[in-house]
Amino acid sequence: MLDALHAPILEIVSSKEDTQKKLLTICKLLKERVPHYDWVGFYFRNGQKEELKLGPYAGAPTDHTIIPFGKGICGQVAVSNKNFVVPDVRAQDNYIACSIHVKSEIVVPLFLNGENVGQLDIDSNTADAFSEADERFLEFINAEVAKIL
Ligand code: SME
Repeated sequence: MLDALHAPILEIVSSKEDTQKKLLTICKLLKERVPHYDWVGFYFRNGQKEELKLGPYAGAPTDHTIIPFGKGICGQVAVSNKNFVVPDVRAQDNYIACSIHVKSEIVVPLFLNGENVGQLDIDSNTADAFSEADERFLEFINAEVAKIL
């Protein structure tokens, strides 16, 4: 299922739209086509500040448009530089809830020239929704996105 989305992702990345529109189109595609992706969004480092700022996303609006480094799953990934797969969000102490429906989450850092500049964050209303296949898929997307930043 995820493999079938490689071609459409490449098409979006190489299209003539501006970068923000491309990222939004990727978010919408992922949310529409992957049943266990209920909220899909990019966060990027906010200039030189130690915080993340919400970029393009698909799904319910969130209050968490700014997330300090270290806070929540996203803020932890900003400093760890590692994928973070959360099978059960209720089991996390350092977690920022965006919706009462969310049960699991995955955050994959986005590297530009080896620097962690942002991340792709996906929430699922299904418990334990994410596997290594999701990690590899989202790493692929972030590597493609890095080429157009
Ligand atoms: N749950 C995230 C916050 C972002 S929302 O999922 C959109 C976190 O704990 O960092």
